[in-house]
Amino acid sequence: MRQALVAGNWKMHGSRASVASLLSELLGAVTAQQVEVAVCPTFVHLAQALELCVGSPLAVGAQDCSHMPSGAYTGEVAAPMLADLGCACVILGHSERRQYHTESDHLVAAKLTAAVSAGLQPILCVGETREQRESGAAELVVLGQLTGALAEQTDLAGLVVAYEPVWAIGTGLTATPQQAQEMHAYIRRCLDAFDTVDARATRVVYGGSVKPGNARDLFAQPDIDGALVGGAALIAADFLAIIDAAAAV
Ligand code: 13P
Repeated sequence: MRQALVAGNWKMHGSRASVASLLSELLGAVTAQQVEVAVCPTFVHLAQALELCVGSPLAVGAQDCSHMPSGAYTGEVAAPMLADLGCACVILGHSERRQYHTESDHLVAAKLTAAVSAGLQPILCVGETREQRESGAAELVVLGQLTGALAEQTDLAGLVVAYEPVWAIGTGLTATPQQAQEMHAYIRRCLDAFDTVDARATRVVYGGSVKPGNARDLFAQPDIDGALVGGAALIAADFLAIIDAAAAV
């Protein structure tokens, strides 16, 4: 039995005031239950979020990390720094990083190694663009991203994979539960091919316009183990409703 994970990717949003108010609403409502819940604010809000969430069931994670543990890498944040601060997890290979920062599978693999070595739980994002889906290449693209990131890894206990079809991110378009389930089942079959991953124990979460209105049907699918939520994670009532939908499965 895999424990559902609902993680909020706050992307480049927030101020000290909005972080305090969003977290106070979440902390007042999230109880230790069968769903694991995490929030991933920007780097500059991590310390504040960690301080507010200490001793609570809310885990805090980062949205990215450097591929190097330390050194002359101006502007970067290293995985051991995130672990030292108290972060539990880190999102890696998000399509917005692949698109706007030209992150390659090779770089994502190096970041994954850095995250795992630092003891952070990696949330590895994969997903195809609309053109790739329409041309029938979705599975091939996802397989390439998984292989590129995982092939050289030696220890992947605790890995989370987030299937985020690029065409569904921030667009209001969601993969249908059937489309998502098909890809999640495919991802699990791919994971089975890696010696370092226990595919049956690995959580595969869905991301892309997850809202209170579609969460329940997505979570009802056998291979969808939760969600990586963008826009709706910034609205406490919506995020809480998504957590409730995961708990109701
Ligand atoms: P939206 O939920 O805003 O579509 O974003 C999804 C996402 O990119 C989460 O990482």
